[in-house]
Amino acid sequence: MAASKPKWVTIKTTLPERPLPLNSSRSPVTTDRLLIRALVAEDAPSLHILRTQPEVMANNPQGRPDKDLEETQRKLSPFLPPNDEKTYNCAICLKETGELIGIGGCHQPASLFGWPAIGYMIRKEFWGQGVATEFVKAWLDMWCKLPRAEAEIEIDRRTLLPDEGEESSPELVTSFTLVDNLASQRVLEKAGFERFLAWEDADLRNPDLQVTLIGYRYVSGRRLRN
Ligand SMILES: CC(C)(COP(=O)(O)OP(=O)(O)OC[C@H]1O[C@@H](n2cnc3c(N)ncnc32)[C@H](O)[C@@H]1OP(=O)(O)O)[C@@H](O)C(=O)NCCC(=O)NCCS
Repeated sequence: MAASKPKWVTIKTTLPERPLPLNSSRSPVTTDRLLIRALVAEDAPSLHILRTQPEVMANNPQGRPDKDLEETQRKLSPFLPPNDEKTYNCAICLKETGELIGIGGCHQPASLFGWPAIGYMIRKEFWGQGVATEFVKAWLDMWCKLPRAEAEIEIDRRTLLPDEGEESSPELVTSFTLVDNLASQRVLEKAGFERFLAWEDADLRNPDLQVTLIGYRYVSGRRLRN
């Protein structure tokens, strides 16, 4: 798929009703191995362990581990009151012990494509065990169950599904990964996302460099693929 400049269009769709449920009213969700719950300020030290693993931060736009606990606290604050109504990012914990091993969810109500975006990171000791996939599937279920409202938003037209007009669209969740982040691409595909775009862009970790990025979309409430 060739890279091209985005063209923005205004479309009618649905989105989770705003304000989003506040952290204090979000019920924890459990899966086979995970407890997915709202983030709290006390998560900062566990999040710091995650965000100081160089392997975890290598693909993050920041491109380096957090310098100190204060930096991690600043990264946590967009997901705590009073910002919780705008985001839907969760603590990913082991069900058995409650230990926080990752963070993930909607950190941006309008991503670079205009749609809500999902992101996630898992502590390296837990990679390769299906944890991220288990989380993304559960999170999508949580997201799709939120009350809906009609919305009119500006989106990148390249996200539109084939055979849909440019006036309305089924609601999407989007994500993007670096071309060499095969693990993340695999997670998205296993969770039902469809790859729809590859493009060149400035590397957020070093804007002097160009990187290839891969865009993914998920039709809320309906799987494109298994
Ligand atoms: C990406 C990340 C979340 C994956 O977490 P995880 O719990 O290991 O993911 P899962 O085990 O659910 O799935 C990973 C899949 O990728 C595959 N995979 C891993 N490394 C791979 C590689 N180098 N090449 C091809 N496939 C790879 C695994 O085999 C697995 O697929 P499978 O189940 O079909 O075998 C984790 O590596 C991470 O936190 N990375 C740093 C942060 C990050 O990159 N976040 C995403 C930003 S877009």
